[in-house]
Amino acid sequence: MQYQWYPGHMTKAKRQMQEDIKLVDLVVELVDARIPVSSHNPDIDELGKQKSRLVLLNKADLADEAKNQAWCAYYKAQGSYAVRLDARNRAGMKAVQEVIQEACREKIERNLRRGILNRPVRAMVVGIPNVGKSTFINSFAGKACAKTGNKPGVTKGKQWIRLNKNVELLDTPGILWPKFEDQTVGMHLAWIGSIKDELLNKEELAMELIKELAKGYPGCLNERYGVCEEEEPAAIFQALCESRGCLKKGGGLDYGKAAALLLDEFRGGRLGRITVEAPPAGSWSE
Ligand code: G4P
Repeated sequence: MQYQWYPGHMTKAKRQMQEDIKLVDLVVELVDARIPVSSHNPDIDELGKQKSRLVLLNKADLADEAKNQAWCAYYKAQGSYAVRLDARNRAGMKAVQEVIQEACREKIERNLRRGILNRPVRAMVVGIPNVGKSTFINSFAGKACAKTGNKPGVTKGKQWIRLNKNVELLDTPGILWPKFEDQTVGMHLAWIGSIKDELLNKEELAMELIKELAKGYPGCLNERYGVCEEEEPAAIFQALCESRGCLKKGGGLDYGKAAALLLDEFRGGRLGRITVEAPPAGSWSE
């Protein structure tokens, strides 16, 4: 399968981010908790290398809680701050606020030592499209001051959201495009709905997802669709198609419809809380 982004947008967004990043002390990177590797663009490691880093494992409500915790431990072991989050829920923002304060403490103390009293520490949000950047900024700021949706250029000029007397957040997020020289990365992004469906072969995606679920989350397909998971993936797909009555007008099974249904239900969390990518084994302590 081939996945395509639009180079013009990518270059513009990256350039904008390079400019914005110069203005901040802390980079808050959102990744999708279901696929923290594939939803991370390694460019940010280079672009933000002089900055403090906070990773927000967003959409943690859709991800496996044991793996959320493992990922947080992993990031901490790597020297980054990390918080798991449902960006739609304001209640989770207190924890983020505390970690931002913690991550910025060194900078604040350094400023004080140099006699710089009134310079707030500045942070910006970055992440791939659809990871929840605008939702997070809205919830965090406590009011609808950032537009939801990925529309470059919605906010004109730089605006800072003052969180408290020490910390300000840039109200426009930096958009990173996912990197997928590796086809698995593209597939994982497609599973969570981060790549436009028109570009994809949904049936192939669904088949691969069936394989993954049968292996990683045994029982979930059986529970949702009543299919026998002992069968080959193609047979499971057929059984799913039948159990949901996905039929073509002229007769025969409509695999396209079944694939769309499976992907949709997976994306909406109706198959349970599922994490596709686990941190490397032995890279953190539980
Ligand atoms: P972006 O700025 O990074 O492009 O992402 P945005 O905030 O627009 O969020 C993309 C979609 O993800 C939105 O759904 C949003 O509600 C949803 N979302 C964001 N954070 C979370 C989270 O922590 N958990 C869950 N479950 N969903 C989250 P949408 O369907 O595109 O829009 P809407 O109908 O919710 O407005």
